[in-house]
Amino acid sequence: MKTTPTEQALRLGSKVVYQIYIKSFQDTTGNGMGDLRGITTRLDYLADLGVDYLWITPFFPSPQNDNGYDVSDYCAIEPIYGTMEDFDELSREARARGIGLMLDMVFNHTSTEHEWFKKALSGDPKYLAYYKFVDAEPGATPANPGKPPTNWESKFGGNAWEYVPSLNKWYLHLFDVTQADLNWDNPEVRKELSEVLRFWRGKGVNAFRFDVVNLISKPAVLEDDYEGDGRRFYSDGPHIHEYLQELVRLGDIDGLMTVGEMSSTSLESCIGYSNPANHELSMVFNFHHLKVDYPGGEKWALAEPDIVGLRNLFGTWQERMTAGGGWNALFWSNHDQPRPNSRFCDTDHYWYESSTMLGLCTHLMRGTPYIYQGEELGQTITDYTSIDQYRDVESLNYYRILQERGYTPEEAFAIVHARSRDDGRTPMAWDASEHAGFTHGTPWLRLVGNYPTINAAAEMEDPHSVRSFFKRLIGIRKAEEVIQRGDVRFLDVPSDKVIAYERTLGDTRVVVQCNFSGDEQPALATEGSEVLVSNYEDESAGVLRPWEGTARIWR
Ligand code: NOJ
Repeated sequence: MKTTPTEQALRLGSKVVYQIYIKSFQDTTGNGMGDLRGITTRLDYLADLGVDYLWITPFFPSPQNDNGYDVSDYCAIEPIYGTMEDFDELSREARARGIGLMLDMVFNHTSTEHEWFKKALSGDPKYLAYYKFVDAEPGATPANPGKPPTNWESKFGGNAWEYVPSLNKWYLHLFDVTQADLNWDNPEVRKELSEVLRFWRGKGVNAFRFDVVNLISKPAVLEDDYEGDGRRFYSDGPHIHEYLQELVRLGDIDGLMTVGEMSSTSLESCIGYSNPANHELSMVFNFHHLKVDYPGGEKWALAEPDIVGLRNLFGTWQERMTAGGGWNALFWSNHDQPRPNSRFCDTDHYWYESSTMLGLCTHLMRGTPYIYQGEELGQTITDYTSIDQYRDVESLNYYRILQERGYTPEEAFAIVHARSRDDGRTPMAWDASEHAGFTHGTPWLRLVGNYPTINAAAEMEDPHSVRSFFKRLIGIRKAEEVIQRGDVRFLDVPSDKVIAYERTLGDTRVVVQCNFSGDEQPALATEGSEVLVSNYEDESAGVLRPWEGTARIWR
């Protein structure tokens, strides 16, 4: 079946996805961690916001070394998150409200606690072939295993290979040592994973997110990387399109809402992944725009965001994905990113303007917007003062690695404080009561101290709150075809702190202008238009005020 660009845009461009980081959303048992029933109890809140799908981060059995991204069984429920009956109830109740569930499939790797890996460790050749095992160098012994097969680095720090003395082999782990990369070149692995999709399909699941899925196809020849950390060899790897097409076919998910998380990807590859003619995925996440404050590409160092770079990245991806028939997931936030209002703007002085301008900036682009829990409330990064308050494996590793690189503990802490994934993982702030209504036990991760004012209950009451603004943005997308499927073009502006673009459909034109600074900036002329949405109540011709975001429409 052939999908036209208009059908693609109408189907995907009218939808909004809400991401739930289950561990931090709503606890109903008192164990300090969110659970499936907690999500069910909050469905009315989500329906009121107006979202179409809930992407729920992994709730499958897992030792939780990477908070569920280390899966030990793809077709069951982790007891801390509830039971299969809880899942079925959530699924039923969500459907009754017109909300779909998007499950998070972590198919690049399994936990080393997965049955497959345990059988591999016992020497079973069938399961050794499920993973990327490589023999140790000739003459290697457990006492002296020699060099790992390549110098590739794990994304969580250190070498990406682990030696197994009992096998005298190394296995690849692009993430934590307890997350072993699967061998997608083995057709049996691909079949097993497609059966996982069929299992959840059978339970009525109608959307999937695929974790770091552009890393699944590794090169046939393993070589050292003398220019980088190895990623250029395995990102968008040699058989990636073939494997995705097969997964979609065998898993019977063509036409469902799907999104792939693409790590260090290219635009051309993303057109390939999301152009409907290829029958791969509906859309893609790329992260280039979230590296504009990484000096020299280094995440674990601090710099001011490069707004001109940000504008160019948005412009290139928006315009070229459209031209190539691809589709973008639109987002600032997820469970791996520090909260963007604190990171890119000024929440001390302009908290409301910062949080809403960012929302406006991406929600009116061409693509499908994603809201990460608490983003619609303007939740901020942490106010932590000590490394003991962090839980994330990557943050704890880098606190150590930064000191090994010569930073003082204070300097290392300042970097981790700004960059930690825990900055976005703090519990959802539901109300001003103890632990923000998240749990009646002890929260697994400390709440941010501002929850007595920044919380859902307070913001639901207030028509001028950040949440009310996000609800309005969702309403605008539902109401305006120009936002769902209009063309997009980035505009030249007389300021390097402003990002502006237009959306057009027939005679309708929308111009969006966002001021990424705390100073007034010149605005584009907009005679003959009316305000579609703005985070300032009154109009001010010719200038954009601090962190102002305004969209105007000509009909
Ligand atoms: C991306 C996920 O979003 C992240 O949280 C996880 O640590 C890695 N993939 C590994 O699964």
